[in-house]
Amino acid sequence: MKTLKKGILLALEGIDGAGKTTQAALLKAVLETKNYPVVILKEPTNRKYGKQIKKLVHEHRNLSPPDELELFVKDRRDHVTNKIKPLLKEKSIVIMDRYFYSTAAYQGVLRGIGKTVDEILHQNRKFAPEPDITIILDLPPRIGLWRIKNGRDNQTTLFENERYLEMVREAFLGLKVPSVEAIDGTRSIEIVFGHILNMVIQLVNSRVK
Ligand SMILES: Nc1ncnc2c1ncn2[C@@H]1O[C@H](COP(=O)(O)OP(=O)(O)OP(=O)(O)O)[C@@H](O)[C@H]1O
Ligand SMILES: [Mg+2]
Repeated sequence: MKTLKKGILLALEGIDGAGKTTQAALLKAVLETKNYPVVILKEPTNRKYGKQIKKLVHEHRNLSPPDELELFVKDRRDHVTNKIKPLLKEKSIVIMDRYFYSTAAYQGVLRGIGKTVDEILHQNRKFAPEPDITIILDLPPRIGLWRIKNGRDNQTTLFENERYLEMVREAFLGLKVPSVEAIDGTRSIEIVFGHILNMVIQLVNSRVK
């Protein structure tokens, strides 16, 4: 196993169906063939608070936006303390399949949340380590939704989702952080992966002991 000078935190972000989970798996596989210690972590988690989030979504029960945000933040605090930080400490490459930029974009565009995208980022950065690279997979919501549902969707819901996801997409694209890179997620899985690997390999090579 190769050893790194310090851990690497990577985040894959973007709207539903953008290709985050697909690209995370490819990245893990390639880095493993190069003998790096790699872990994928997904948010919301399968831990205490993450399960509560998924249960609410599954049952279509809407929490108030501020309560929903609080639950995401609780889930992340637990994840940072018990998984993310320990893995970085043992110098692993940690790939986040969604992280705090998703919370900022999805919750920050909701009316009635009482917090802007920037305020949510600020709140998260108090406890959550900043990724070395954050990749936003960008694409029109219609394509992301189509990929997920493959054209079998009820149109009204689709329309509502699309409008919301269009705001989320704009929030992702509006992020002004040097370590955040948006890439065109409409292209083939292989082309998108080539761009991601290129960015990641440069960083990984610079961190090898
Ligand atoms: N570049 C691509 N071109 C075409 N189809 C793709 C591409 N990337 C992923 N897909 C397909 O689209 C679907 C959604 O991909 P994936 O699950 O990776 O998205 P995601 O961003 O993780 O979505 P979610 O936000 O719902 O978790 C999958 O069926 C996947 O195989
Ligand atoms: Mg996914």
